[in-house]
Amino acid sequence: HVTLKANIVLLPGDGIGPEIIQQAELVLGRIADIFGHEFEFESHLIGGIAIDTCGDPLPQATVDACRASNAILLGAVGGPKWDDPSAKTRPEAGLLRIRKELGLFANLRPIRLFSQLVDASPLKREIIEGTDILFLRELTGGIYFGASGRDDNNGDESAYQQMVYSVSEVERIVRLAAKAAQGRDNRLTSVDKANVLEPSRLWRQVAARVMTEEFPDVQYDVVLVDAMAMHLINRPRDFDVVVTGNMFGDILTDEASMLPGSLGMLPSASLGSDGPGLYEPIHGSAPDIAGKGIANPLATILAAAMMLRHSLDLPAEADAIEAAVEAVLADGLRTADIARGAESIGTEAMGNAVLQRLTQ
Ligand code: NAI
Ligand code: MG
Repeated sequence: HVTLKANIVLLPGDGIGPEIIQQAELVLGRIADIFGHEFEFESHLIGGIAIDTCGDPLPQATVDACRASNAILLGAVGGPKWDDPSAKTRPEAGLLRIRKELGLFANLRPIRLFSQLVDASPLKREIIEGTDILFLRELTGGIYFGASGRDDNNGDESAYQQMVYSVSEVERIVRLAAKAAQGRDNRLTSVDKANVLEPSRLWRQVAARVMTEEFPDVQYDVVLVDAMAMHLINRPRDFDVVVTGNMFGDILTDEASMLPGSLGMLPSASLGSDGPGLYEPIHGSAPDIAGKGIANPLATILAAAMMLRHSLDLPAEADAIEAAVEAVLADGLRTADIARGAESIGTEAMGNAVLQRLTQ
């Protein structure tokens, strides 16, 4: 057994951010105690609170600390206080910039339905039960970053936005996805629109070569994005790891995030080729419940588990957190957002329950 030393930067941010980050920090601290690791935590400013404190949603001190860290855990940013359209900077700008500064080109979103929460899904039990998909969305290329502009077009004004993918951009995300598949059910689906789009044809060609040459053991198939939108509703449990480009991934991951019916349970990660990964819940700062002590900390705690798995190479420790979360759900413990009107507990009580289960 090897002791791991890790510097973890915490970016609590706004709204419920500080409340949920606090619980995730306690869980990581407990993991360090149990498994004999040394985790050092350092908190930094991002988002609205950073604007209020120093006029910048991503202060240089935060960037420097993130660069020097092994991994980053973020709460959420934003809120009505900073929504003034005349403001010269917005909290979200901090989030976009940190992703760019760290070269985070892959967004990982596991869509997992906890069996204890199957009734929260808008889909029928027999369709959704057992769903466990890991999406990898390319995050720094494709149409969202392509050249754009407008043409006068002889009085009928037009607008354009180019979709561009290079071989190396496709290779690196497909490799990451294939490796993730090897750690799961060993199946990978690539989603594109190769019947219409040239960048998709390149994507499909490069992905097929990477899979044949480097991952012959991984079961691999391709699906068109429009068909995938249907399959997600029809037969979600047929998929293991899904890799796709920026825009298709944006849409499909938002579609998929609705399947479990529990926003407060869904974590995500953004990874680069080297350097720290950024881990966060997919939900926002929930200003409507901020400061009330009722936010669900489980998405952030599950994001911490992803951090252990993907940035710190501690899969057993990640499994321990996920098992503890399942155990508290099996015990019937629910925060208000997943209680469906039944009795609920607060943020701290939920965090404590996970800690207790970890120790057992
Ligand atoms: P939201 O995800 O913050 O909230 C949507 C609904 O879900 C609210 O009713 C909220 O109370 C509930 N909710 C969310 N997380 C919860 C949790 N952990 N436990 C219990 N209930 C939870 O999305 P919304 O309301 O659209 O955005 C609020 C603010 O968050 C905005 O300023 C938005 O820009 C920002 N935002 C930030 C994100 C980030 O930091 N990555 C992502 C999405 C939104
Ligand atoms: Mg989206």
